[in-house]
Amino acid sequence: MLKLVQEGEIPVHVAVIMDGNGRWAERRGLPRIAGHKAGMETLREIIGCADEIGIKIMTFFAFSTENWKRPSWEVSFLMHLPEEYLQKELTTLIKKNVVIKTIGDFANLPKHTVRAVSNALKLTSNNTGLIVNFALNYGGRAEIVEAARHVARKVARDELSPDAINAELLAAHLYTRDIPDPDLLIRPSGELRISNFLLWQMAYTELWFTKILWPDFKKEDFLRAILNFQKRERRFGGIKK
Ligand code: IPE
Ligand code: IPE
Ligand code: MG
Repeated sequence: MLKLVQEGEIPVHVAVIMDGNGRWAERRGLPRIAGHKAGMETLREIIGCADEIGIKIMTFFAFSTENWKRPSWEVSFLMHLPEEYLQKELTTLIKKNVVIKTIGDFANLPKHTVRAVSNALKLTSNNTGLIVNFALNYGGRAEIVEAARHVARKVARDELSPDAINAELLAAHLYTRDIPDPDLLIRPSGELRISNFLLWQMAYTELWFTKILWPDFKKEDFLRAILNFQKRERRFGGIKK
């Protein structure tokens, strides 16, 4: 399957909603956090595969602005996961020439999370390989609201005319200002929804849903999604060429 994928067009940017960890654990009679741990292994495998096939950007949804609604013990565990993950993986990621980036509201994360992530951003900032972008405390609506605020402030200061506001200008105020829109979204776990992920950016993203839970999602499943993407005809509102 790897060969077949490599012969086709490789998507530039793939976004993933890492979902189904809790159910994976519950089905095994384990605490939900065991699912989040298992999900980290999947993350490692998928980053390795993305790198191998030459994807340029991977965005992973790790924590949403709505996930604060969960019980405090689960939120607290999730806030320690970036540290745990980076402690294990950062050296390998640096060797792979990976650039770590984040999107989301950084300011409202616990200090220990910010510290670990900032360190990884700094240590990989001069790398030139695969961009691994983590959506942490990210919400599509919050992102658009924040961008609107920035733009409104510029208008209020007379730095910008309301007539100059267009899609490009708004996009330039989003967290994703320096990365292209995702070509493909992968959502495991069987849920058929976007859950407030990259609302603006996914206007023309191809969607791939699978019932497989994130901790069970393997390299082969990832390649299958890419293969399916390669068969799609993207028209962006135009007509068939
Ligand atoms: C995804 O798995 C991880 C996060 C949202 C942080 P879930 O924890 O949502 O797993 P399910 O959906 O309950 O199975
Ligand atoms: C989306 O999953 C958020 C992340 C994977 C980080 P959720 O499990 O929070 O989404 P819903 O609640 O099923 O829509
Ligand atoms: Mg979920």
